[in-house]
Amino acid sequence: MYEVMIMAAHKVVCWECGAEIEDAYVNLCPKCKGLLTVKMDLTKVQEMKPADLRKTPIGVWRYAPFMPVDPENKVSIQEGGTPLYECKALGEAVGVPGAHVKFEGLNPTGSFKDRGMTMGVSHAKELGATVVGCASTGNTSAALAAYASKAGMQCAVFLPSGKVAMGKLAQALFFGAKVLSVDGNFDDALALARKMHDEKKLYLLNSINPYRPEGQKSVLFEIIDQLNYHNDKFVDIPDRVILPVGNAANIWAVYKACMELKEAGWIDKVPKLTGIQAAGASPVANAFQGGSLDFIAEPNPETVATAIRIGNPISGKKALKAMYDTGGYCTTVTDAEIIEAQLLLGRTEGVCVEPASAASVAGLKKLRAEGIIDKDEKVVCICTGNGLKDPDTILANVPQPIPCRNEVADVERILKETA
Ligand code: F0G
Repeated sequence: MYEVMIMAAHKVVCWECGAEIEDAYVNLCPKCKGLLTVKMDLTKVQEMKPADLRKTPIGVWRYAPFMPVDPENKVSIQEGGTPLYECKALGEAVGVPGAHVKFEGLNPTGSFKDRGMTMGVSHAKELGATVVGCASTGNTSAALAAYASKAGMQCAVFLPSGKVAMGKLAQALFFGAKVLSVDGNFDDALALARKMHDEKKLYLLNSINPYRPEGQKSVLFEIIDQLNYHNDKFVDIPDRVILPVGNAANIWAVYKACMELKEAGWIDKVPKLTGIQAAGASPVANAFQGGSLDFIAEPNPETVATAIRIGNPISGKKALKAMYDTGGYCTTVTDAEIIEAQLLLGRTEGVCVEPASAASVAGLKKLRAEGIIDKDEKVVCICTGNGLKDPDTILANVPQPIPCRNEVADVERILKETA
């Protein structure tokens, strides 16, 4: 079988001290407490060409040669393969004609988390796990709940009480997860979920689990696959990729994908990875602005973009490396800028994203105005989640429905008045 043949060898290592990790249930290095990462053996990929991937439909598993899980064990609901839009009108509005949006809201559960979860839950299946769990600001829990259902596993999700957007909460409940509303914020919920994992009461599928970012690498593979290749090389590499940063694993995953493509000899150039945080939850942006390799946790993060309402991002150090190494950038946007960008994207391109996702577009606008982004750059904003996840925020920021009598004349009156 083609898929089995291309499964890549790999090992889990400490990202800080390089120690090899044997215990599949360890989430931090037993020697130095460092974060873990997967080291892929890309020998087979080096013998392949981008065209070989196209035998498999676009989506996370097209990139199986770069993934650490045997596709034979995959738990999939056809994640990935999301559209990459060329956004002329948005580009004109923000002064970057080469603006693109990768719309991750069209994943099966409506966010990019499905990419990591197909890999994470497939690996959990390989390990024989029967109970899985995660802490979440909402999207991770929706994704895990769905994939756990598909895999027939029990699922517990730990959510910061009162701060999860309605659509995400509805999804986790709908898929039958045990939904635990934890007193505290995301960082508190994650601490509790990690205790449960450490006591081996569940298998943790937050992005501290190194298999999760492996699936999330696929968004970068797709972007450059969609931009096309020529003579066995990907040739159209964006100058910059902009992502919202919360727990900070996704920008790290995109960085890792870039490095692996380079190692495979499939690309020569790497996009400038640019992270955007909400002004009220900005430990990584503050560290970047101060030129620091590590961040200082914030005790009380607050933002309308609840998905990235995180003060102690687990992968913050990895995210900083991703931005420094690629000549990228990191800044903050205010809640008002986020809402404005959300509406702008909807009304120029017909794309409805949730507030955290709109942070990438708000960042594009801000950094162009500040001259950090050049007008001639080809930029891809990763819009991580669907706007319907958080209808309350949309309804709080748009005009209300207009009362109308059941007659043509009244409709005409209204259309004239509101033209
Ligand atoms: N955008 C959305 C829509 C998210 O849900 C998240 C994270 C991010 C961006 C940030 O990604 O954490 O990798 O930097 N959501 C997590 C969750 C925290 O629980 O759903 P990151």
